Amino acid sequence: MDPLTALLAVLLLLALVYWYGTKDFGSLEKLGVPVIKPYPFIGSILKPWESFCVSDDLQNARKYGRLWGLYEGPWAQLFVADVDMAKHIMIKDFDHFQDRPVLFDFEYGRDQMDMMPADRWKVLRSLLAPALTTSGRLKAMTPTMQQCLDDACRRMEAKLRDSPVIDAQADLFGPLTLDVMAQFSFGMKVPDVADKNSVFVKHASAFGVPTDATPNPLITYILTSFPSLGNRVAGRQLIPAFRYFLEMIRRSIKQRRAEGVHRPDLVGVIMDAIDNKVPTAEYRQLRLTEEILLLQGAEMLMAAYDTVGSALNKSAYFLATEPEAAEEVAQEAQELDELTYESVAQLPKLEAFIKEVLRMAPLLVRHFRVCTRDWEYQGLRVPAGTSVTIPMSVFHMDEQLFPEARQFRPARWLEEDAHRSHQYSWMPFGLGPHACLGARLAMVECKFFLAGFLRRYRFLACDQTKFEYLPGSGLFATTKPIMVKVEKL
Ligand code: HEM
Repeated sequence: MDPLTALLAVLLLLALVYWYGTKDFGSLEKLGVPVIKPYPFIGSILKPWESFCVSDDLQNARKYGRLWGLYEGPWAQLFVADVDMAKHIMIKDFDHFQDRPVLFDFEYGRDQMDMMPADRWKVLRSLLAPALTTSGRLKAMTPTMQQCLDDACRRMEAKLRDSPVIDAQADLFGPLTLDVMAQFSFGMKVPDVADKNSVFVKHASAFGVPTDATPNPLITYILTSFPSLGNRVAGRQLIPAFRYFLEMIRRSIKQRRAEGVHRPDLVGVIMDAIDNKVPTAEYRQLRLTEEILLLQGAEMLMAAYDTVGSALNKSAYFLATEPEAAEEVAQEAQELDELTYESVAQLPKLEAFIKEVLRMAPLLVRHFRVCTRDWEYQGLRVPAGTSVTIPMSVFHMDEQLFPEARQFRPARWLEEDAHRSHQYSWMPFGLGPHACLGARLAMVECKFFLAGFLRRYRFLACDQTKFEYLPGSGLFATTKPIMVKVEKL
């Protein structure tokens, strides 16, 4: 090749690479909203490994108001920090925002219910919902929860013999939530939930959020700039985990069939769907494969494991550092004759405590939707295809919506009309038809376990008790390990 041709080829290649790194730029600017200046490839966030989603969102809301745009690498996102507009997007005008962006775009990842296009998502959601939302089925989970609670107490007491200080997530709530969710999702008791070397725990950890990794700037740049590469890297760890859990649920179903057992739990719901016992025309039309149905067991583990674990972990922090509020909820729990599905439903102070934890320190801090049909709202025109992000911390920390928003004040949830006035501004479980399917189960679990622990132990602050967020986390607000002192009553 002569030098001129070589030079032209290099220039063409550079132009193509530049085009790729900037191809979506300009799409947000067309909406007429303030846009944080993007740079080729890396987008608007200059040091993604240092940025932290919650403080970024609060800062951007202060600077730009209720609407702004930014590019995460090439990904254009319209941020909507206005309660009324968010309510329209998530509930009232849902038919314009039925999809989520596919955050896990690799084998198995894209086949999870919440990543699917609306027609499939809707059918799968209504298929699975009874196992997660009906009182009878949640009540049927309580013996399992009791047994998992007792096992967790035994593990913790063994730990306490070495030291009174525990890592609330790693030593207590991580194994506990894994234990419950393994039984809920796969109908199986896993014997070694606390053993980090067990195959089950290793695969489940792939579904968790990192707690100690320090992001490498160069790798973060590359993965943000080339999302398909990011997906490949994530897939390398997650695909084997999905395969493992698929096999697990398959085994569980095989065993139930061999024993002629049918239970109305998640596995039972999936078995019925495989056996075509779901008579709706919509369902039959979709022809969902057996593998897609089985995958939803893994989806539940993924959706529930770290979310419930994080709510409990952060609750332990607030129990340790807010002694007055802790005393009130402990007293309420200790006054119960016994721990049952019905009795934990009657713990208003504990419920208020958990709601306040989820207001101040939710794990998932942004909600995502894709505009599927052009939408117009108060002069703003959003074309189909636009990714919309709802930054929930902006609402949760708004002094108008939550007076003394920086104070941990569970009593706000006991005020008259609290539920109605925060109906659309408190959204740790999302809102509308795409809202968390496990919200009821999550609240039952949190109340059951916290009440169970508070009847036996006291959580206290010590020198190591700190609440520090990890930087660089885009989707999750993850903390460094939370250490608390535990005292037996
Ligand atoms: C404290 C615990 C939990 C929190 C804070 C939480 C939070 C969330 C959030 C924020 C969403 C997205 C909502 C939206 O986009 O509007 C979500 C979706 C979802 N969650 Fe949860 N979650 C929790 C526990 C659970 C549990 C225990 C399960 C199931 C066993 C579960 C299953 C799901 C599912 C299936 C979705 C997707 C719903 C859909 O797209 O239709 N979650 N969750």
